[in-house]
Amino acid sequence: MAGIQLSLLALFSICLLLFTSGVFSATFTITNQCSYPVWPGLLSGAGTPQLSTTGFALNPGASTTVPIPTSWSGRVWGRTLCSTDPTTGKFTCVTADCGSGTIECNGAGAIPPSTLAEFTLNGANGLDFYDVSLVDGFNLPMLVVPQGGTGGGNCTATGCIVDLNNSCPVALQVIDNATGSECVACKSACETFGNPMYCCTGTYATPNTCHPTSYSLFFKNACPRSYSYAYDDGTSTFTCASANYVITFCPTPAASQKSSGVQGENPVATNISSSGNLSCTTSPFLFITTFVVILSVFRSSRHLN
Ligand SMILES: *[C@@H]1O[C@H](CO)[C@@H](O)[C@H](O)[C@H]1NC(C)=O
Ligand SMILES: *[C@@H]1O[C@H](CO)[C@@H](O)[C@H](O)[C@H]1NC(C)=O
Ligand SMILES: *[C@@H]1O[C@H](CO)[C@@H](O)[C@H](O)[C@H]1NC(C)=O
Ligand SMILES: *[C@@H]1O[C@H](CO)[C@@H](O)[C@H](O)[C@H]1NC(C)=O
Ligand SMILES: *[C@@H]1O[C@H](CO)[C@@H](O)[C@H](O)[C@H]1NC(C)=O
Repeated sequence: MAGIQLSLLALFSICLLLFTSGVFSATFTITNQCSYPVWPGLLSGAGTPQLSTTGFALNPGASTTVPIPTSWSGRVWGRTLCSTDPTTGKFTCVTADCGSGTIECNGAGAIPPSTLAEFTLNGANGLDFYDVSLVDGFNLPMLVVPQGGTGGGNCTATGCIVDLNNSCPVALQVIDNATGSECVACKSACETFGNPMYCCTGTYATPNTCHPTSYSLFFKNACPRSYSYAYDDGTSTFTCASANYVITFCPTPAASQKSSGVQGENPVATNISSSGNLSCTTSPFLFITTFVVILSVFRSSRHLN
């Protein structure tokens, strides 16, 4: 009896130790499949751990893995058409600039329009919540694919894999001054017109009063799994337990359709066992730990007999 109590205490302590020491961090593998360079930006939410990088360059075809601490929340996006001014040394981007003047964003977020991948890791019930948002507009196609997750909900790929630069409504287009004609990003109606109806502000600040508009539907029809306006949660938020995430800019339509089916209908949520609640059993490490402790309980109780 005493042995079992002691072992439970030990198990609890090990759980606590592993969780507080941040062993169970995730990784983001950020890949650029665009034909042009992309400069990812990363912003940590208030009160969550900082990352080892807040911005870097990714050439076409390149990939970088960033370790993510437990319970991190924040966003990842891609800056395009970036350059360093030869006289001032200031780094700026035509789309999704963070205004830091350097490749690292140092706590600054994306200036809209910007496609955003948003994460809250190890949130309610120990689940990761993630989405790709076009609420702040669109600047490049982006796909988020969870890998190795132990289930815990609709743990599937999400994103916007269509290039909306060409189809963007004229009123929302961002034209590159360097070429004078090329649309390089697509603004949200909220940013363009500032109307509370588009921004879900004022009397429109509730899910019951703010509804899709023809502009938000332009984004939603092209990218059904992405957020198209503030209260688009039901079809745009995904959950997963203990996953790593692959974030891809410009996933090739053919490949991503084959592997994830993101374009078109939302697929049925994957149905892996929903052990998501018992936080101490969601990780393989803890399964092993539990096994070892239980083994020692048996051994010590045999000694006692
Ligand atoms: C193009 O130039 C105009 C006027 O200077 C400026 O307001 C706009 O932001 C520029 N567009 C881009 C994409 O930089
Ligand atoms: C979309 O914008 C990017 C720059 O952000 C540009 O390189 C790309 O060619 C544009 N796509 C289209 C289809 O115009
Ligand atoms: C995914 O699951 C969450 C949590 O149950 C739910 O709120 C959300 O609507 C689901 N998302 C989709 C796209 O079905
Ligand atoms: C997922 O599991 C639940 C509960 O076990 C079940 O009711 C549901 O039909 C399953 N869904 C699929 C797609 O298998
Ligand atoms: C998970 O937690 C929710 C509420 O926190 C509860 O309703 C549900 O029954 C739990 N599921 C399991 C498998 O423990």
